[in-house]
Amino acid sequence: MKRNKVIAGNWKLHKSNTEAQQLANQIKIRSTDIKNTDIILCPPFTALTVIYDVVKDSAIGLGAQNMYWEKSGAFTGEINAEMIKSTGAGYVIIGHSERRQYFAETDETVNKKIKAALDEGLKPIVCVGESLDQRETGITAQIIETQVTGALAGLNEQQMAEIIIAYEPVWAIGTGKTASPEQAQEVHAQIRSLVNKQFGDAVSENIRIQYGGSVKAENAEILLSQPDIDGALVGGACLKAETFLPIIQAAEKL
Ligand code: PGA
Repeated sequence: MKRNKVIAGNWKLHKSNTEAQQLANQIKIRSTDIKNTDIILCPPFTALTVIYDVVKDSAIGLGAQNMYWEKSGAFTGEINAEMIKSTGAGYVIIGHSERRQYFAETDETVNKKIKAALDEGLKPIVCVGESLDQRETGITAQIIETQVTGALAGLNEQQMAEIIIAYEPVWAIGTGKTASPEQAQEVHAQIRSLVNKQFGDAVSENIRIQYGGSVKAENAEILLSQPDIDGALVGGACLKAETFLPIIQAAEKL
């Protein structure tokens, strides 16, 4: 089964609008030869419209990093799926481990956000991953199962066609430590089989599962050539065109 690779840049809390525009421009200009790999930029909310103006006439996708599930109301500081959609964005990262760790997100809130995003026509990039403690105590598979089944509870096959899953071992995020290709492949295969159990062959064969956690030019090719790794969610290395583009090019070559 050949699935197009998908490389997303998670800009986290970085870039003013001027810087964002410059980076998006560089990525656009230098990725015109990319034909088989999907590129998604996920800047802070404040830069979404600015970047949409840069990428709207290209194949580059745009995503937010978070959203709230309610449509409106007294929720100071939150934004909803419709607001994200109105910027021109088509994607939203949901349940990133930093959201789970610092902003108390749970499998239940992740599930609510996914449903609210899908209702508005946004494609969720759903993050799962174990902590170092959990890996060392040998409960990675259990944690992944709980997170995947919790996140996807109540979804149907049509909705699953809109979803990307990102496996991001927490201990590999921003640490320079990457899961070995074998470690990553093992969890990716497990996630695909969990999706298979819940939604059947067609959904599990088509769903794209990204790896995230210190992906860079040097390790991209070996990770992306694993059979169940369909792309990367990139943090640190996506903040400069010189470090992000080689990852996209590695995906395109495969
Ligand atoms: P990193 O971040 O590439 O800096 O490890 C990945 C992520 O958190 O999505």
